[in-house]
Amino acid sequence: MSQKKRIAVIPGDGIGQEVIPQAVTVMQASGAAVEITNLDWGADRYLTDGVTVPPEGFAVLGREFDAILAGAFGDPRVPSNVHAKEILLGMRFKMDLYANVRPVRLLDAALCPLKGVEPKDVDFVVVRENTEGVYTDAGGVFKQGTPDEIAVQEDINTRKGVERVIRFAFEYCERHTKVDGSPRKRVLMSDKSNAMTHAGGLWLRVFKEVAREYPQIKAEHMFVDALCVQMVRDPWQFDVIVTNNLFGDIITDLAAGLQGGLGMAASGNIHPGKTSMFEPVHGSAPAIAGKDIANPFGAILTAAMMLAHLGLTVEAAKIEVAVLEAVRQKKLTKDIGGSLGTKEAGEWVAKRVGR
Ligand code: NAD
Ligand code: IPM
Ligand code: MN
Repeated sequence: MSQKKRIAVIPGDGIGQEVIPQAVTVMQASGAAVEITNLDWGADRYLTDGVTVPPEGFAVLGREFDAILAGAFGDPRVPSNVHAKEILLGMRFKMDLYANVRPVRLLDAALCPLKGVEPKDVDFVVVRENTEGVYTDAGGVFKQGTPDEIAVQEDINTRKGVERVIRFAFEYCERHTKVDGSPRKRVLMSDKSNAMTHAGGLWLRVFKEVAREYPQIKAEHMFVDALCVQMVRDPWQFDVIVTNNLFGDIITDLAAGLQGGLGMAASGNIHPGKTSMFEPVHGSAPAIAGKDIANPFGAILTAAMMLAHLGLTVEAAKIEVAVLEAVRQKKLTKDIGGSLGTKEAGEWVAKRVGR
């Protein structure tokens, strides 16, 4: 039997089709023992044959692959966004990938729009609940198109869902160090329990209960609006943040800004013990797609995160070091102050990794 890790690669739409091939090239240059299978799920396929996810698609992913590397989903030719919903949210929900882990790391002070902020000041992780909240899209409209129209969008929070993601955050805190090797020590739960009292109340109660099981970890709480200002004033104060699906989505775009923009941010959609899915935080960026200008580093760092998750930590570290070196030597795309194209930047990292 092959010892290689079986990776399903789904580049998807727009710049996903440009950055993911670079991530794959870099992964192969790292010497990681992986076997790649490309899947054509995305807008092109949907517009051709109407298929978003082929029959048994998620079961096959779960059974036949060790991990999934995905690009982005969203295409102006599909205004309903139905394919993105079925593919991306489908993987998250139907494969029950309940923890969306989004590390926030500044590689170089030059990438941060804030004054005087150094890499040591920005090294935290957002753990975003990934299977419920408003993303379940429960609700409906009534009297549509009339002055009396009503739109209801429910926020679903289950005891099980809240508890498992909070516990995941504490476990993550316990098992992961910061980039400088120092231990992680604090988990902060962020919500809007002063206004959304029902859901917030559940999150607060569960957070307190779970925190008791981890007396060595400091448990903290912050309202999500206050967290936004703190993130740009004093990002050094954050360690592990756990929050719901919607707040997690929003604050990780804000946090991407600290790292140099969406082109730099990586993420993993994880259910411990199950086939998990890794994707850059950014979307398909239709306006810059097909121009060879998208930043491939978020996708490349995502591939490194996936390898580390699969136990290929040496290869993952090699890739991270090479990206850091690219940043130091200004081998960058223009969104972060360089002049290289997507391919040139990816190939530079691949070469460096292969040395
Ligand atoms: P986006 O992330 O695609 O782009 C936001 C901005 O960031 C744009 O100005 C874009 O040019 C820039 N940007 C993003 N990634 C970049 C990169 N790698 N290099 C350089 N610049 C980059 O978000 P959006 O514009 O809100 O959404 C576009 C489409 O993507 C929509 O259909 C949306 O639903 C979808 N989307 C998908 C995902 C996903 O699949 N995970 C995530 C976010 C958005
Ligand atoms: C993300 C994206 C998705 C989300 C969209 C495309 C549904 O913004 O992965 O951050 O909101 O989760
Ligand atoms: Mn988002």
